[in-house]
Amino acid sequence: MKTRFIVFLSVAAVAISGCKVSAPSSLESTVAKELKQKVMIGGRDDRNPTFDTAETAHEGQEHFMHHCQICHGYDGQNTGVPFADKMSPAVADLKSKDVQDYTDGQLKWIIENGIQPSGMPGWKGILEDDEMWKMVRYIRHLPPKGSLGAPDIFKEEAEEHEQMKQGEKPAAKPDESKAHTHTHKH
Ligand code: HEC
Repeated sequence: MKTRFIVFLSVAAVAISGCKVSAPSSLESTVAKELKQKVMIGGRDDRNPTFDTAETAHEGQEHFMHHCQICHGYDGQNTGVPFADKMSPAVADLKSKDVQDYTDGQLKWIIENGIQPSGMPGWKGILEDDEMWKMVRYIRHLPPKGSLGAPDIFKEEAEEHEQMKQGEKPAAKPDESKAHTHTHKH
């Protein structure tokens, strides 16, 4: 009994200190998320100065198509982005509750400053304030998942892959993305 308790304690200690390689426990993620949303991310009370209209969202969408689709897909929900779930942390689904729970000001702050450390870059000095606020409008009015298809750049890649599949033996690629539907039967 005693040893079991000690084992339990040390497991708990490791879990709490976060020194482990596996995916974070839900407690850890909750704490990290709270920290991120409440402390790290600024701009909570900043008001979106753009009008909440379809036009604004559309303009935001155009900017999004230039700068963000490469990771977030056209629809902001990672459609057709083969590495989206391979990044650590994974590319966020912008329609998810976690993201939608941010205030407009926080979303603008995220676009401006990025999230460190992660693959989400900051766009300070690259995008105008106005453009970022409009993108926030687009994030609030995202189209249904998958409705805009995959970004062209990945479509071409998928087509090449399709040709390889039909033609000669495909080159061995260790990190086949889940987006490819065929399975290897070795
Ligand atoms: C190089 C890939 C990449 C590009 C380009 C990119 N993002 Fe991200 N984005 C990410 C990753 C990875 C995350 C997840 C970060 C995290 O969970 O800490 C993310 C997360 C986000 C989040 C949610 C943050 C959170 O706390 O969950 C928002 C909002 C966002 N991105 C908006 C944008 C916008 C708008 C653009 C274009 C201006 C953009 N991103 C461009 C990779 C990218």
